[in-house]
Amino acid sequence: MPVSLIILAAGQGTRMDSRLPKALHPLGGVPMLAHAMACAEPVGAERVVVITGHRAEEVGAAAHVCDPGAIMVRQAERLGTAHAVEQARGALSGFTGDVIVLLADTPFFRPEITRDLLRARETHDVVFMGFEAADPGHYGRFVMQGDRLRRIVEFAEATGEERQIRLCNTGVVAARADVLFSLLAEVQAGAGRERYLTDMAAIADQRGLSVGAAICAEADVQGVNSRAELARAEGKLQTRLRTDALQNGVTLIAPETVTFARDTCLARDTVIEPHVVFGPGVTVDSGATIRAFSHLEGCHVAGGAVIGPYARLRPGTQIAAAAKVGNFVEIKNAALAEGAKVNHLSYIGDARIGVAANIGAGTVTCNYDGVAKHHTEVGARAFIGSDTMLVAPVKVGEGAMTASGSVITRDVPEGALAIGRARQENKPGLARKLLQWLAAGGKSGKSGKSGTGGRA
Ligand code: UD1
Ligand code: MG
Repeated sequence: MPVSLIILAAGQGTRMDSRLPKALHPLGGVPMLAHAMACAEPVGAERVVVITGHRAEEVGAAAHVCDPGAIMVRQAERLGTAHAVEQARGALSGFTGDVIVLLADTPFFRPEITRDLLRARETHDVVFMGFEAADPGHYGRFVMQGDRLRRIVEFAEATGEERQIRLCNTGVVAARADVLFSLLAEVQAGAGRERYLTDMAAIADQRGLSVGAAICAEADVQGVNSRAELARAEGKLQTRLRTDALQNGVTLIAPETVTFARDTCLARDTVIEPHVVFGPGVTVDSGATIRAFSHLEGCHVAGGAVIGPYARLRPGTQIAAAAKVGNFVEIKNAALAEGAKVNHLSYIGDARIGVAANIGAGTVTCNYDGVAKHHTEVGARAFIGSDTMLVAPVKVGEGAMTASGSVITRDVPEGALAIGRARQENKPGLARKLLQWLAAGGKSGKSGKSGTGGRA
């Protein structure tokens, strides 16, 4: 049976107290919404419909980063979860399989749980996913009769007795598309309240359909409704990612100090020293070492490379095998070929550094002219002297050298030495004289002679 997803992400998330929509608050380096959307691939979703509302364009753009094929549908007015799901009717026209509704604010939902949901669908027309809550709080409550789910009652409308029920609604529900939309059509708004998706349970039951509950662990469906819950969710996600890394053969010297992104990809036998931060989009191959206090995002590090300590790799960086990036080095949108070294205090941006090239301390690729970015090319085995300014666009040929302190504004031919700095002059004895004059107060004498003068 083909499956499609509807992800509800129209809400503002009032309790987050933020101008950013709740679905876009980052968790593990990616918007919260991306976690729910990650279920699409493992379940082989035919269509993914994201319901947007509050700041729909931003939410839509983020959703398209996760899945360029996702369909955005705007819920112009927030009239409740039933109304939100109903907006997907057009986007799912002609689709005859099962629909699973997910909430954007439930980031720990795992694709494996979807399988349980679909298994329960084999015996029930409509399946709501529930969990035993340690503290049921404001969740909707399942009113069961044997294995039949008779109705779901929202906390606000529950009687004292119903509030004792600990089997709660996750918000996730599955039904065949036509069944779902025909039930939704019957959901009414109550007195002073929105149209609740949860009312579908009682309507289906009254229609003589079989309504069931699939059960998952509370940890898998924790909602994020406030900054405190977001911080707890981040902590929990980081613990999970560290455990996964260790189980996959990664050495973490101080696991609790390393911050991962949801998609960090570390091969077996990588070594990660303490206090390393991974932003989104990092892949590190087997045998690489990331030394302490480094920050990486959107980059690839090949085997045998050593990064840091205190290095920063920004998006678009490619570090080839056995290359070295040392302390206080920033690299952006640049490729270091095999064995290239940038060991100290440098900025390399929009550049290609050749095989075994050596970039001296304090080198800067001056890539930005205030309007556009320009490219720098350093050939294989070139030697860039310390404190070289490479004013892009510029090329340094294979095996060429630049003298320390040079400002390189023209291409350097292969094998050439470029010197671009003022010639040094030595003035015998002048330092001693200058110091004496300064010690004497540094004022000009009556003779009008100022000794070395302040402008020496
Ligand atoms: C909902 C459920 C509740 C369940 C809980 C689980 C209903 C009526 N209640 O309550 O039974 O225990 O989730 O976390 O369904 N949204 C829209 N458009 C709307 C309203 C909401 O897209 O008009 C989206 C929100 O952005 C959010 C999701 O639906 O992602 C859930 O809405 P929320 O207001 O958080 O519902 P809860 O009160 O948590
Ligand atoms: Mg909620």
